[in-house]
Amino acid sequence: MIRYRKKLEHVKTIGAAIINSPEYEKAAKQPHHFRGNVAAHMINTAYYSYCICGFLNKLGIRTCTDELIISCLCHDLGIVGNRRNKYVTGPDCIKNHPIDSIPIAERLMGSLTPRQENSILMHMWPLAPSHPRYREGVILSFVDKYCSVLESSGLLKPAAVL
Ligand SMILES: [Fe+2]
Ligand SMILES: [Fe+2]
Repeated sequence: MIRYRKKLEHVKTIGAAIINSPEYEKAAKQPHHFRGNVAAHMINTAYYSYCICGFLNKLGIRTCTDELIISCLCHDLGIVGNRRNKYVTGPDCIKNHPIDSIPIAERLMGSLTPRQENSILMHMWPLAPSHPRYREGVILSFVDKYCSVLESSGLLKPAAVL
């Protein structure tokens, strides 16, 4: 349990500027995947991506872990307030919410690296056709789907309360 808490603390330290923002307060109030909310989903995604990076690093596969944590914590910010209003259809939402996440992430972080920007923009792959350019983006895309399915089914305990 302590190990989990340490990892979660790292995520929260790296992402403090995002997690403590008014945008995250709004994200915490918006339901997501039936049982959770947008903020908890992004923290889940960051936490499990961080775990996967640790595993890959042990295998000698290097990752820009802290950059990935930021991408994870921002990837669905564009959906906040827009899910029912701006996006008319499911495909419209799939296509546009990653694009809408970028200016919010840039505002919160000051700027994004090309790796962070591409990972956020491509995070709906493989549901969207364009794939991520970076290893970190592939991790985000897969962990996002993993968390989405398990959050919806109630099987995934939110990392935020570990
Ligand atoms: Fe998304
Ligand atoms: Fe997501």
